[in-house]
Amino acid sequence: MTKKAAIIGGGVIGGGWAARFLLNGWDVAVFDPDPEAERKIGEVLANARAALPMLYDCALPAEGRLGFHSSIAAAVAGADWVQESVSERLDLKHRVIAEIQAAAPEVPIGSSTSGFRPSQLQEGATDPSRIMVAHPSTRSTCCL
Ligand SMILES: NC(=O)c1ccc[n+]([C@@H]2O[C@H](COP(=O)([O-])OP(=O)(O)OC[C@H]3O[C@@H](n4cnc5c(N)ncnc54)[C@H](O)[C@@H]3O)[C@@H](O)[C@H]2O)c1
Repeated sequence: MTKKAAIIGGGVIGGGWAARFLLNGWDVAVFDPDPEAERKIGEVLANARAALPMLYDCALPAEGRLGFHSSIAAAVAGADWVQESVSERLDLKHRVIAEIQAAAPEVPIGSSTSGFRPSQLQEGATDPSRIMVAHPSTRSTCCL
């Protein structure tokens, strides 16, 4: 069954995550209040379609489906993974993580933070054990 990633925050880094998941065959649901988010992610995706296949030594799977949503709850519904990529403010990340966990209590959450420790992101969370810091690998991938 096709997996689904929710991308919360679709700026520079969230757009990169969206492209990586999509081009690896995952469906992607984005929430970002910026009215320009869809256009920006479209540009990142166009670049990634040209560049990402060069990092692999085999064909990538069929691209997943991309959707934009008007709330965090709608984006994370049914997700197998949530990638939080909102601006680097701890109060904002806490609010967003709380909203994600209220809507999807069991989903693992990767944060793209560049400066906060996992323990800081986990402060006050309903389920701290599902919150981690996750960054994409830039190494090429061998297909078996
Ligand atoms: N840019 C980098 O080189 C880089 C590298 C590593 C890690 N990071 C980290 O990645 C995260 C995102 O950084 P970025 O460079 O993509 O920033 P960015 O400003 O390009 O994107 C942040 C996005 O978050 C959105 N946002 C704000 N509030 C939101 C909310 N409540 N819900 C959903 N979306 C919301 C904004 O509209 C914006 O599109 C930060 O934690 C940053 O530290 C950035």
